[in-house]
Amino acid sequence: MQNTTMLKEDSLRGKIIIVTGGGTGLGRSMAKSFLHLGAKVVITSRKEEVLKKTSEELANETKGEVLPVKCDVRNYEEIEAMMKTVINKFGSFNVLLNNAAGNFISPTERLSHRAFDTVVDIVLKGSYNCTLAAGKYWIKEKINGSVLSIVAPYAFTGSGYVVPSACGKAGVLALTQSLAAEWGKYKIRLNAISPGPFPSEGAWSRLMPGELMKKFDPAKATALNRLGEHHELANLASYLVSDYSSYVTGENVVIDGGMWLKGAGQFNLCEMIPPEMWDAIEQLTRKGKSS
Ligand code: HXC
Ligand code: NAP
Repeated sequence: MQNTTMLKEDSLRGKIIIVTGGGTGLGRSMAKSFLHLGAKVVITSRKEEVLKKTSEELANETKGEVLPVKCDVRNYEEIEAMMKTVINKFGSFNVLLNNAAGNFISPTERLSHRAFDTVVDIVLKGSYNCTLAAGKYWIKEKINGSVLSIVAPYAFTGSGYVVPSACGKAGVLALTQSLAAEWGKYKIRLNAISPGPFPSEGAWSRLMPGELMKKFDPAKATALNRLGEHHELANLASYLVSDYSSYVTGENVVIDGGMWLKGAGQFNLCEMIPPEMWDAIEQLTRKGKSS
């Protein structure tokens, strides 16, 4: 498997990319690929110390320009202030990556309404806040911007036990498709990525704590029987924010090793049938022909 950037050097030269939640996990990995490809990158989240440390590491690893800016995506004024800081530093920006999220597994009836709000506010409100602020700026300044949002396959399938996240991600997908149609006239593109299981401390600690990881090995839920690797997602994200994808808008690209299809196909559980049982099953199904 290739552990390198797919696009050629300097493919993202001229891009100034804001990555929400860029201090950790998948956001950090995507930011690193963007830097390798020549983009200037802004990483934002609520934790200033984490952002500072990550931006120093990324600058050292890639020799690129990284700007850490503290910003809670739930607060529109903070987003406007963050974007002002970016424009002061880099002169402009032309890509927004909605990556920040909050999530935890729980039976829905155990959640308080505040817990529900907390997740939906980070995921959906955070994404529409950032998208609205960026869009207003791009339309005013006639910038051909692009928004990429990280959702999940359950944005279109739904899923129990992560219901606030599923509601939020479904809303972000609707935002992506709706604005792709509405803002195409401004040459603004909006796309989404639905990742399957990609290991990150943030997701693993909240979705598969303790013994759960052993009970529900997420690798086994995929058709390819393995977890995603960060560079696989980062390559896809790099393509979708680059000009190579200039005719792609309103799209949601699934990168999940066949996870949701495996869960959806009615007979896919037949893989649990041992090979030696198939002879007996075949006899029975052949008999079925004469009945
Ligand atoms: C039930 C919970 C809870 C839990 C918090 N709450 N954790 N309820 N089970 N595990 C409740 C609290 O009791 C409170 O309600 C309300 O939620 C707000 O909690 P706070 O801790 O005050 O919220 P906050 O400090 O804003 O933290 C937000 C957070 C936290 C979402 C709870 O986990 C966080 O900061 N997460 C950010 C990173 C993250 O989640 N990364 C994972 C993304 S993975 P009450 O009623 O008591 O006031 C992902 C993968 C998707 O999205 C797809 C996978 C395939
Ligand atoms: P992560 O490391 O926990 O990333 C979430 C980031 O969001 C953190 O950096 C967090 O930083 C930031 N954040 C949370 N609340 C915020 C707020 N109010 N304002 C600004 N930033 C905030 O987890 P991850 O796995 O990399 O997730 C990244 C994205 O991928 C998320 O959209 C997630 O839903 C999606 N995803 C992940 C997987 C997976 O398998 N890992 C699968 C499908 C989709 P602070 O705490 O510092 O604010």
